[in-house]
Amino acid sequence: MRPIRTERLILRNWEDRDRELFHRINSDERVMEFFPFRRTRAETDAKMEEFRHWIEQDGYGFAAAEIAATGECIGFIGLLDTDDVPSLPNGAIEIGWRLVPEFWGKGYVTEASEAWLAFGFETLGVDEIVSFAVAENHRSTAVMKRLGMHADPSADFDHPSVPDSHPHLKRHVMYRLSREGWQAGKKAAR
Ligand SMILES: CC(C)(COP(=O)(O)OP(=O)(O)OC[C@H]1O[C@@H](n2cnc3c(N)ncnc32)[C@H](O)[C@@H]1OP(=O)(O)O)[C@@H](O)C(=O)NCCC(=O)NCCS
Repeated sequence: MRPIRTERLILRNWEDRDRELFHRINSDERVMEFFPFRRTRAETDAKMEEFRHWIEQDGYGFAAAEIAATGECIGFIGLLDTDDVPSLPNGAIEIGWRLVPEFWGKGYVTEASEAWLAFGFETLGVDEIVSFAVAENHRSTAVMKRLGMHADPSADFDHPSVPDSHPHLKRHVMYRLSREGWQAGKKAAR
């Protein structure tokens, strides 16, 4: 992918120096509160390679976010093709995020997401971008609302990859943003 520059961040593909951070965002208890798995370092090294390959191939994905002023990687924000959500057609475009806790509460996710929404609607030309989270993940749904996405309870679903051992993590709420909604939000913000 071509790196995307925002006011404070560089959104880019993963690099070898990000391996420790990538492991943290897949194993830290606070970050992973709403996920049923914790990945080992060997598993995250392999997963990072997978992410890197798809981002290289497609030009987008769950990409690294780096603070431009310091070069520090803080997590990921990006777009992804979804194919395992029962209430969405295969290939729907999802926006998702995961940061290490010391960088929560500074607006970095909203800032990066605005750039990714512009990339999705303008460069990829998609008609809609969705996001979903465990219903109790209010920090995540707050980002969705801040971005102008709206809840669509008719598309809420039980995530098929969450095992029965974690029933409280199954139910996911759906948020949507259409191209028209995104354009209207941009006009209103001017
Ligand atoms: C979900 C998650 C990405 C949200 O991160 P976040 O830092 O709260 O999100 P934002 O970047 O939008 O920051 C918003 C917060 O920064 C504050 N903020 C400060 N400066 C800001 C700015 N310039 N612009 C916007 N918000 C700003 C906002 O007031 C808000 O604070 P609040 O939480 O006290 O209301 C983060 O909590 C996380 O990584 N969680 C674990 C992983 C996870 O659950 N991922 C989602 C799975 S669906």
